Amino acid sequence: MSVSQSPAWVALEQHYRSELQQRTLPQLFDQQSDRYQQFSVVADQLLLDISKQRITSQTLTLLLQLAEQQGLSRWIGDLFSGAPINSSEGRAALHTALRAAPNSTASDDRVAVDVQANLEKMAGLVERIHRQQWRGYSGKPITDVVNLGVGGSDLGPQMACHALEEFRVEDAQQLRLHFVSSIDGSQMAELLKHLNQETTLFILSSKSFTTIDTLANADTAKRWLAQKVENRQVLLSQHFIGCSASPAKMSEWGIAESNQLLFWDWVGGRYSVWSVIGLPIALLIGVEGFRRFLAGAESMDNHFRTASPAKNMPLLLGLVGIWNHNFLHSRGHAVLPYDGRLKYFPSYLTQLEMESNGKSVNRDGKRVDYDTCPIIWGEVGSNAQHAFDQLLHQGTQPVSCDFIAPVLRYRSGTAEGTGEQLQAQQQLALANCLAQSRVLMFGDRALDDASRAKLSRNDQRYPGNQPSTTLLMDELTPFSLGQLLALYEHKVFVQSVIWEINPFDQWGVELGKQIANQAGMAIDDPQCRFDESSTDGLLDFIRSVRHQ
Ligand code: F6P
Repeated sequence: MSVSQSPAWVALEQHYRSELQQRTLPQLFDQQSDRYQQFSVVADQLLLDISKQRITSQTLTLLLQLAEQQGLSRWIGDLFSGAPINSSEGRAALHTALRAAPNSTASDDRVAVDVQANLEKMAGLVERIHRQQWRGYSGKPITDVVNLGVGGSDLGPQMACHALEEFRVEDAQQLRLHFVSSIDGSQMAELLKHLNQETTLFILSSKSFTTIDTLANADTAKRWLAQKVENRQVLLSQHFIGCSASPAKMSEWGIAESNQLLFWDWVGGRYSVWSVIGLPIALLIGVEGFRRFLAGAESMDNHFRTASPAKNMPLLLGLVGIWNHNFLHSRGHAVLPYDGRLKYFPSYLTQLEMESNGKSVNRDGKRVDYDTCPIIWGEVGSNAQHAFDQLLHQGTQPVSCDFIAPVLRYRSGTAEGTGEQLQAQQQLALANCLAQSRVLMFGDRALDDASRAKLSRNDQRYPGNQPSTTLLMDELTPFSLGQLLALYEHKVFVQSVIWEINPFDQWGVELGKQIANQAGMAIDDPQCRFDESSTDGLLDFIRSVRHQ
């Protein structure tokens, strides 16, 4: 039986029709004055407020019953114990073991030993680079580190490095970090103009070590170095580090064994920021800082496993997403961090959520008859206000949003004389964050009566009734960022359990890779046809322009 026919799902549909369909958010607030007390949770440095969701306590009770019906506690047990829950690939999804403290009971002994050994090896490389003991071919210390990777091998470390720049350690003051992912070479072409072969180190980050985007950039890097370095062995051993689950492929490419950092097939690419894929983060904030990042995630893991359902952050975040999408038929979900340091967080989250739960077939291979992952997008919140928030406020679609903001900032480390002014700017950002969620909820009823009376035309009116969640953190630190990412990872897991899908594979990406290989050959070979007029027509055009 499909979950959409199950008693808990049907009860939620009935509840929506009888209790919520005709009730708006402002009415819910009129009827219950302590919504914030009832629908907010604190865990370490994070606060989650779901009181601006279109729910009542009965909705929450029914959603929790849905989670129970779907066997969520058993699934959580399986996730943490390393059961092969990635069913299509027959393996575990043990990213939580990467952040389990060395003596924690949460991780299997053998796994813990491997994890710590590779973390130690990574720490050794970080130390050599920081102490300027790692030298380029001419004996000069490294000044530029370029991470070559894509998807999970790029988005996580890039997002975290941008977010945590203020935590740069003294030993990394002179180190510049760069991220290159695009297959077309545009990032490489531009970057290489400004780099010096003598002092540049490349990190090849690829779980599979077969991703053409990354290997193409790596080959360009190799050629660029070869202009200056004749000795291939020196070139490879002093200018390349590899981070992968495939030591054999790294060796085949030429990465010296001493420069190989490993992780395992039981770590999904989009869950790999906690592994050696996090090397750029450790280079920036030091290994101790990286351990604090892991500790934040571990704290969220412990919360997820032990907090009571009604106060369990990932569970609540996952369930309100299900409610919005499957019962209120929300069309999209916007992620709006009110902090420029979290600029890359929405992109990171789009991969985490959409690559994990963008599926239409359940774990048994049957087509589902309900919606799974919504379309997720986002932007720094204040910039979004001047770009797409118009649609959130006055468009025709029901949408939902997550607002994310740190409460404190600029208490130190600002340019002389700017501290107070920057703190005032941070307050402006917070004020806008609160204002947007209020307007989404109340519409123009957020105004006083006199101001509202002046809105004479329909195009000036805001209907409101758009639900949102607010996540506040005391400060953005390695620890709170770790908590935040783990929160969303577990949210995705909760939703996958409800939707009965495997969030740890991504077969939908594979076909594109195969067809790209065919198309690549076809560009060079005019005999090669696809027997459909669109692609054949485009190929003819490309060939004719290239041969002009
Ligand atoms: O193509 C999608 C994907 O497989 C992602 O899941 C992954 O994060 C990315 O490519 C990069 O893969 P890899 O780390 O193996 O190069």
